[in-house]
Amino acid sequence: MTNKNLPLKSASWALITGASSGIGREFSTLLAKDGYSLVLVARDQEKLEFLAQNLQKTYSIQVHCFLIDLAKEGAIGEIDKKLKQNNITVSILINNAGLGQNEYFAEGDQKKTADMIAVNIKTLTELTRLLLPDMIKHNRGKILNVASMAAFSPGPFMAVYFASKAYVFSFSRAIREELSNTNIKVTVFCPGPIQTPFWEKAGASRSRLMSGFLLPILTPEKAAKIAYTDLKKGKNVCVPGLLAKIVYALRGVLGTYIPLKIAGFLNRSKSHKGF
Ligand SMILES: NC(=O)c1ccc[n+]([C@@H]2O[C@H](COP(=O)([O-])OP(=O)(O)OC[C@H]3O[C@@H](n4cnc5c(N)ncnc54)[C@H](OP(=O)(O)O)[C@@H]3O)[C@@H](O)[C@H]2O)c1
Repeated sequence: MTNKNLPLKSASWALITGASSGIGREFSTLLAKDGYSLVLVARDQEKLEFLAQNLQKTYSIQVHCFLIDLAKEGAIGEIDKKLKQNNITVSILINNAGLGQNEYFAEGDQKKTADMIAVNIKTLTELTRLLLPDMIKHNRGKILNVASMAAFSPGPFMAVYFASKAYVFSFSRAIREELSNTNIKVTVFCPGPIQTPFWEKAGASRSRLMSGFLLPILTPEKAAKIAYTDLKKGKNVCVPGLLAKIVYALRGVLGTYIPLKIAGFLNRSKSHKGF
């Protein structure tokens, strides 16, 4: 959706995946407040267009909604085509779309597992590859990849999700290093639990993690604000909260065994009876 009568307040465009809900919606508002024109990507037309209308009206920015299923083959080609059609060069990319699955790997819904790998890993990688060359050409750009504290350990009962976030963490840090002689900064965001529909969709709303007894649960507003502040500063890794920062700092000392056991304990719910 574009209001062609609006003046282009800023020449800068930000693209946010998963903008229809949770943290992505909050990122969109923060960027709109800063005057960025936005490309919002997700599947839920009603939610996306409602957000776009509000942001356009409130902040006099341009907003395009790309209604795309990022799990589908060809999703990135579709984004490329739409960006070219609208003559948009993206200077801020927020790879935020993601989904989880709280099941025994061996029993999990295979379509959901495949979608998770496609959205959390494949499209994040391909979208970054699509947009980076232009950023390099202009020697300007920022990328925020949304990982999770799940990146720091294997995660029984959410095995593929935790592994996907470890990928995002590793990938982000590696390409940041490759870009170290440019003005392009890649920030990887590693939050603990956040109160969004993510947990219900993942079938994990009754896991111990979401009881909040070990790690405090952030609001999406607060989580997005912390990440956005660190993105603007061009920070490398953003880990919100003191306890999460301690876990991050100690991960080398803790090794794998203890975090794996803790993650398994937290991810397990009463429905996981064992084989
Ligand atoms: N919530 C947490 O505790 C937490 C903690 C750490 C990290 N994270 C990460 O934060 C990110 C955002 O999650 P959230 O908590 O904000 O969850 P959310 O409210 O469920 O939002 C997920 C977003 O991803 C989009 N999405 C999912 N599958 C998609 C697909 N196939 N194609 C296009 N868009 C898709 C959804 O849009 P549509 O449904 O409209 O397509 C939605 O906008 C994820 O990467 C998640 O792994 C979350």
